Amino acid sequence: MPLPFIADVIWKGVPGIPSVWTLLKGVLAVAVLGLLKWYFMGTSNASERKMHGKVVIMTGGTSGIGAATALDLAQRGAQLVLLVHQSPKDIFLIDFIDDLRERSGNNLIYAEQVDLSSLFSIRQFATRWIDNVPARRLDMIVLCASTLTPPGKPRVLTDEGLEETWMVNYLANFHLLSILSPAIRAQPPDRDVRIIFTTCSSYIGSPAIEDGSDAMKKKEWTPSKAYARSKLALVIFGHAFQKHLDSYKRPDGAPTNARVIFADPGYSRTPGMRRWLTRGSLWGLAIYLILWQNVWFFLKSSEGGAQSLLYAAMEAALGRGPGGKLVKECREMKFSRKDVTDEKIAKKLWEGSEKLVERVEREEAVRRALQKKEKDELEKSEKQSSDTKPSGGGGESKTSKSRRQRKAK
Ligand SMILES: NC(=O)c1ccc[n+]([C@@H]2O[C@H](COP(=O)([O-])OP(=O)(O)OC[C@H]3O[C@@H](n4cnc5c(N)ncnc54)[C@H](OP(=O)(O)O)[C@@H]3O)[C@@H](O)[C@H]2O)c1
Repeated sequence: MPLPFIADVIWKGVPGIPSVWTLLKGVLAVAVLGLLKWYFMGTSNASERKMHGKVVIMTGGTSGIGAATALDLAQRGAQLVLLVHQSPKDIFLIDFIDDLRERSGNNLIYAEQVDLSSLFSIRQFATRWIDNVPARRLDMIVLCASTLTPPGKPRVLTDEGLEETWMVNYLANFHLLSILSPAIRAQPPDRDVRIIFTTCSSYIGSPAIEDGSDAMKKKEWTPSKAYARSKLALVIFGHAFQKHLDSYKRPDGAPTNARVIFADPGYSRTPGMRRWLTRGSLWGLAIYLILWQNVWFFLKSSEGGAQSLLYAAMEAALGRGPGGKLVKECREMKFSRKDVTDEKIAKKLWEGSEKLVERVEREEAVRRALQKKEKDELEKSEKQSSDTKPSGGGGESKTSKSRRQRKAK
């Protein structure tokens, strides 16, 4: 019997072929890595719900998690109104929308130019929307846009003078929903209206919000604190907005049918995350590419990140009972901070934000009026000078003279 030989092969292995132990160790390592990757990929939205006929306004639908969410909603038949900061003539935007229509087989995808770093731009869109009589159908608002300053980079101010992270991640949503509120409340009682706030667990480590009158003071500001604080403000405001909707007495006496739902996508490989990890620098990008396999291993794809948003958009149970629920990994979770539902903090934040919006809008209106006046005067003086200009004359024309004088002033 060749038993000693068989035992030798099992325990010591055939020369050139790894032993059983080595093989087992290899298989085990692959299984553990596979399980970990499966864990980091996150949970999938299992709903098969169709979204035909639903009208969805969405911010941040052109990149990362937002783009993946937009594609899935479009594939299920929803009509999408994407709020984007590019001009409708932008060639990349045209390509993006065409591609989305083609991949989803859905032509009901539109883009509206709304720069979320501008209160004026938001007001222009939102007032146009609520000016519709009767109120336009609106089933869902997905608030997915965000910005962040890469670590080590300086604080950025918008053209209206507000800190950019605070403006885009929080104040833009406050302003948009404040104006759209009548359109949300006017939806028929049998409609399941959802307002999905995309949040991030960074809010847990944020400094407390004392006042919404301004973003963080310059001295305290760091990119990560500013981002976390904007997300905390968004969560506090979301709860307050739900109360605002609940307190409305509908003319038909029906209970409110609009619900705020918070969705945390989890850490995902998106352009935003890449900007953060690379610190917005070329050497950062080089390290990112070298360590790409680690990024791939530990972070979800954009599609993976979109799952909790899609669950928030479709899960039937979230369309019943009170609003203000948090969804993470396609299930309901509890918030990790008590102050997110603190009414006193919410009131201060709301009132402070209202005052800030009012002040900036007033200042901007004055600035625009002055700009217009100056432009009109310039046009007038140009017209006058062209009327009195001697034909083929040399020397300095009145127009260039007046331009030069303006510049000197
Ligand atoms: N990625 C993560 O790991 C992670 C983790 C937790 C939570 N989140 C949250 O998930 C959401 C999506 O994240 P993401 O990483 O997918 O974001 P992203 O790739 O950085 O995309 C941000 C989106 O916001 C839009 N946007 C930025 N500034 C704008 C402005 N001024 N006006 C109009 N649109 C503007 C961008 O438009 P353009 O592309 O045209 O610039 C883009 O569509 C965010 O709310 C984020 O906070 C992400």
